[in-house]
Amino acid sequence: MISELSDAVVRTELCGGILVVTLDNPPVNALGVHARRGLLAAIETAAADPTVRAVVLTGAGRNFIGGADIREFGKPPLSPSLPEVCNRIEASNKPVVAAIQGAALGGGLEVALAAHYRIAAVGAKLGLPEVQLGLLPGAGGTQRTPRLIGAKHALDLMLSGRHVGAAEARELGLIDRVSQSGDLAAEGLAYAQELLAAHAPVRRTRDASGLADRAASRAAIDAVRAEVSRASRGLFSPLKILDAVQAALDQPFDDGLRVERDLFMQCLDSPQRAGLVHAFFSEREVLKAPETRTAKPRSIARVGVVGGGTMGAGIAVALLDAGLPVTMIERDEASLARGRAHIEKVYDGLIGKGRMTSEAKAAVMKRWSGSTAYDELAAADLVIEAVFEDMAVKQAVFAELDRVCKPGAILATNTSYLDIDAIAVGISRPADVIGLHFFSPANIMKLLEVVVPRQVSADVVATAFELAKVLGKVPVRAGVCDGFIGNRILAVYRTAADHMMEGGASPYQIDRAVREFGYPMGPFQMSDLAGGDIGWATRKRRAATRDPRARYVQIPDRLCERGWFGQKTGRGYYLYTDGQRTGTPDPDVEAIIDAERLRAGVTPRSFTDEEIMRRYMAAMINEGANVVHEGIALRPLDVDVTLLYGYGFPRYRGGPMKYADQAGLTTVLADIRRFAQEDPLFWQPSPLLVDLVERGADFASLNQSA
Ligand code: 3HC
Ligand code: NAI
Repeated sequence: MISELSDAVVRTELCGGILVVTLDNPPVNALGVHARRGLLAAIETAAADPTVRAVVLTGAGRNFIGGADIREFGKPPLSPSLPEVCNRIEASNKPVVAAIQGAALGGGLEVALAAHYRIAAVGAKLGLPEVQLGLLPGAGGTQRTPRLIGAKHALDLMLSGRHVGAAEARELGLIDRVSQSGDLAAEGLAYAQELLAAHAPVRRTRDASGLADRAASRAAIDAVRAEVSRASRGLFSPLKILDAVQAALDQPFDDGLRVERDLFMQCLDSPQRAGLVHAFFSEREVLKAPETRTAKPRSIARVGVVGGGTMGAGIAVALLDAGLPVTMIERDEASLARGRAHIEKVYDGLIGKGRMTSEAKAAVMKRWSGSTAYDELAAADLVIEAVFEDMAVKQAVFAELDRVCKPGAILATNTSYLDIDAIAVGISRPADVIGLHFFSPANIMKLLEVVVPRQVSADVVATAFELAKVLGKVPVRAGVCDGFIGNRILAVYRTAADHMMEGGASPYQIDRAVREFGYPMGPFQMSDLAGGDIGWATRKRRAATRDPRARYVQIPDRLCERGWFGQKTGRGYYLYTDGQRTGTPDPDVEAIIDAERLRAGVTPRSFTDEEIMRRYMAAMINEGANVVHEGIALRPLDVDVTLLYGYGFPRYRGGPMKYADQAGLTTVLADIRRFAQEDPLFWQPSPLLVDLVERGADFASLNQSA
C-alpha cells in the first residue's frame, strides 16, 4: 500500500542517462511519508542502475517542495525520517541537481541543499520558515546552510523565516544558477548533462567552506545571540536555532546533525509548536466559509467609502494600496479635506521613512476622488460606510446609498457594535447589505470580520472573502450580535480586568502580567492607545440597558470625566509627558483607584500575576465558547484567528481556544466555577464549555470545516 502510494507521489523518468525524479504530491509537494519513501527509493534506484549517471530532482505543479508535511507533526514518526532522506541524497556518488520552481521552503530547501547542484526558476521562493511554526530546520538545514552561505546569512534566513527570490539566492550562494529560458525542466536536464560532460565532481554541502573563517562565524553568532534573546520575546525555537548553528561551527558535521535532531525534537514537543501550527492551519481554514463554496463573488472594480475619519481614511488606504479606485463621501467640504489629509498623512509617513516616493504617492492619489454628493457613488460596485457609530446616522446613510447605488452594488458597514439587521431593514435591498469590520489602523491590521446579517445573499458574503484576499486581509465570518466575535469577547475580558483593578491589582500589574503572557501590550495600555472616549461613549449608550445587578467598575469613567483619554490627551491610565508614546505609571490614577475602591466598599487584596492571567483567560475563553455556542463564530478556530489578528493574542499560543485545550477545559471550568462563588452573574459557565467537559471533549473537536 505504502509503496504504491510512494510510487504515485514520486515519478522517475530516464532521459539520456539522467534520472529525472519528480515529486508530485499536491497541493504543495509536502514531504509526507510517501514522498520520503518515494524519494529514497528513487535515489536507491539511481545508485543501483548503471545506466543512470546523474539525477535531477524536481517538483510537479507550481512548487518544488513546500516543506515537511506539517500535518504529521505531533503524530508517531514514520520511517524514513527526512534527515535520512537528505543524507542519502547527499551521499549519492552520482551528481544530483535540484531544479527548483515556486516554493522550496523548510524541508524543501533542505532537500535542495542535500543535492549537489541547484538551479532555480526566476519566480522561485526559497526559505527556512520553520521558526514561524516554532521549529528549526530539522533535516540538516542548520548544519548545511551555514556551511554553504556562512553563519550570518544562514541565521538571518532561519530566524526571520523570510523567503528569498532566485536572484538573491544566487547572490547568497544558496543556488548555483537562475534559469533563464523559463523552461526549468529542460535547463535542469541540460545542467546535469553539462556537469557530466565536464566530469564535475559530486559536491557535497557538508564539505562546503562557509564556516572556514571561524572567528568571523563566531562573531556573527554572538552578535545575533545578544539580539535574539531580546527580540524573540518568549519564543522557544530562535534560541535553539542559535544552538544548532553553534554546533555547526564547533562540531563535525555528523555530530552537528545529532545536536540538530535533539533540538528539533525539543521544539516539536513544545506547546509553542502546537500553537503556531494551529495558527497556520486556522488562518487557512477561516477562508473556507460556506458561502465561498456555494456562491460566485461579484466583481469589484470601484469602491466608495462614506466617512473620512480614522476608519474611513484607513479603509481607503487599504483599498488604494490594493490598486482599487476609491470615491470618498463626507458630510461637508471641511470634513472631506480632513479625510483626504488623513490619507495623505499615511503616505507622507512612508515617504518620510524612505519607503515611498512622491511620484508613487501622486499615482496612488490619482485613484482617489472625494465628494459631498452621494450621486458620485452611482458607479461603485461596493460602498463601505464608516460614519459615526450611531444607528440613526447610519440608517440615513444607507437610505442615501439605496437611492443612488446601482443594482447589485454591495453596501457594507464598518460598524463596531450596531445591529446590521436593523441597518438593512429600512432599505429596498437588504440582500446586498453586509458588515465589513476593519480594525484600526485599517491599512495595517490584518483582521477583517465579515459580519453576515440575516438577509444577505451568499454571493455578497463570497465577495467579502474575495475582497479580503485582494486587500491582503485575514477574513473571519461572524454573525450579528453586540460586538460580533472580537469586540464582544474583548468586552468580557476587559471587564474581568476592571474587576481585578477594583479588587486590588493595579492596572500596571495587570498590563505587565498580560505582556508576560505574550501580548505586545496590556488592556490598559491598549485603552490609552485607542482612546478611552470610545469605550466611554459605548458605556453611556448601554447604561440604560445594563443589568442593574451587574458589577460595574466606575474607575474608567472617573478618568474620562477628567478628560484623560490616553495618549492623545497626554494621560490616561499612564502619563505621557512631552508626547511620549510609552507611558509611565501615574500616582494620581492610583489615588483615584483607591478612592473608588473605598466608594465601592471593596477591601483591596493582592493578586499574583498567575491569578490575573487565570481570570483574564477564563473570561476570554468562556465568552469565546458562548460565541461559538450561539453560532456567531463558526468554530473555535474562528475565535482564535480573530483574537490573533485583531487583538494581539500571542501567536505562539495559537489563540484562546487552543490555549484552553492545552490548559485543559476541566481546569478552565473549575476556575470559572470558583470565581463564580464571588460573582455568579459575571462568571456564568458557557453551556458549550460545560457540555465539552461532560463529554470529555475539547474545542479542537469542533474545528472541522463548517
Ligand atoms: N504541509 C502540509 N500541508 C501544507 C504545507 C505543508 N508543509 N504547506 C501548505 N500546506 C497545505 C495548506 O494547509 C493548504 O491546505 P488546504 O488547501 O487544505 O487549506 C494547502 O497546502 C495550500 O496551501 P496555501 O493555501 O498556503 O497555498 P499557497 O499556494 O498560497 O502557498 C506555500 C504555498 C508557500 C508552500 C505555503 O503553503 C506555505 O508557506 N507553506 C508552509 C511552508 C513551511 O512552513 N514549510 C516548512 C515546514 S516545517 C519543515 O519543513 C520542517 C523540516 O525542517 C524538518
Ligand atoms: P470618526 O469620528 O473618526 O469618523 C467618522 C467620520 O464620519 C467623520 O469624518 C464624519 O465627518 C463622517 N460622517 C459623519 N456623518 C456622516 C455622513 N452622514 N456622511 C458622510 N460622512 C459622515 O470615527 P471612526 O473612528 O472612523 O469610526 C467610524 C466607524 O467605524 C464607526 O462605526 C466605528 O464604530 C467603526 N470602527 C471604529 C474603529 C476604531 O478603532 N476607531 C474600529 C472599527 C470600527
